[in-house]
Amino acid sequence: MQPTFDDAWEIANGIDGWLLERQGRALFEAAGRVPHGASAVEIGSHRGKSAVLIAMGLPQDVRLTAVDPFDDPRWGGGTESLTLFQENLRRAGLSGQVDLFKGLSEEASKDWVGLPVGFLWVDGAHDLESTLKDFDGWMPHLTRGAELYVHDAFSAVGTTRAILRRFLFSPNVRYIGSERTLAKFKVEPLTLLQRLASAMGIASQLPFFARMVAIKLSRRRGLHRLERRFMREDNEPLI
Ligand SMILES: C[S@@+](CC[C@H](N)C(=O)[O-])C[C@H]1O[C@@H](n2cnc3c(N)ncnc32)[C@H](O)[C@@H]1O
Repeated sequence: MQPTFDDAWEIANGIDGWLLERQGRALFEAAGRVPHGASAVEIGSHRGKSAVLIAMGLPQDVRLTAVDPFDDPRWGGGTESLTLFQENLRRAGLSGQVDLFKGLSEEASKDWVGLPVGFLWVDGAHDLESTLKDFDGWMPHLTRGAELYVHDAFSAVGTTRAILRRFLFSPNVRYIGSERTLAKFKVEPLTLLQRLASAMGIASQLPFFARMVAIKLSRRRGLHRLERRFMREDNEPLI
């Protein structure tokens, strides 16, 4: 029987990671829309929080490929992340539905011989160069109608710059909304009007982006009163 989002969240919520419940729900629901004959790919798996949500949302015969070098110290990975990732998937009964690519997104996309990708989740390194490689490497493998979700969008500077560079007036990638820092895009040919509407949607997130950057900068400098002035609520999450 297909699990519900509540089933998936109960498991994912116990795994260390960075996802709000509404973002987890967006991943779970997008996974459920991947058509038969296509696949899902995740860039950046850490300990498996998002992988569990995506894999549990996928139709039974659709597979997820999880891409992460795991033990690269540049992103805080240690040998334990791979072990914990595998353990978490095993506990959720998902080991059989998830393929692991232990390496960088750019290596995985270059050698990709899997099924066309109907859902891509981008949550790797959030600098400009890596995110551009994620977008450029995977775009040729995405199906028409694929959904492409990006984490730390309009929050991390690199991710936001990559979105502006590649998708602001894109003829084939449409902005369809955000769940805080999770931005949702759909791959499909766009008319001129749709391109303008998509650009306006992206531009509408820029005040949020400015606020996130202001909070992070004031926090980094120890300016806590200033930080609180930018926050909409106490303990406002930065994800
Ligand atoms: C924010 S964490 C991912 C969190 C995960 N999605 C979750 O739900 O817990 C970022 C991960 O991306 C991985 N990473 C960084 N650069 C990458 C790249 N170029 N390709 C694949 N994974 C990458 C890191 O090793 C790290 O585990």
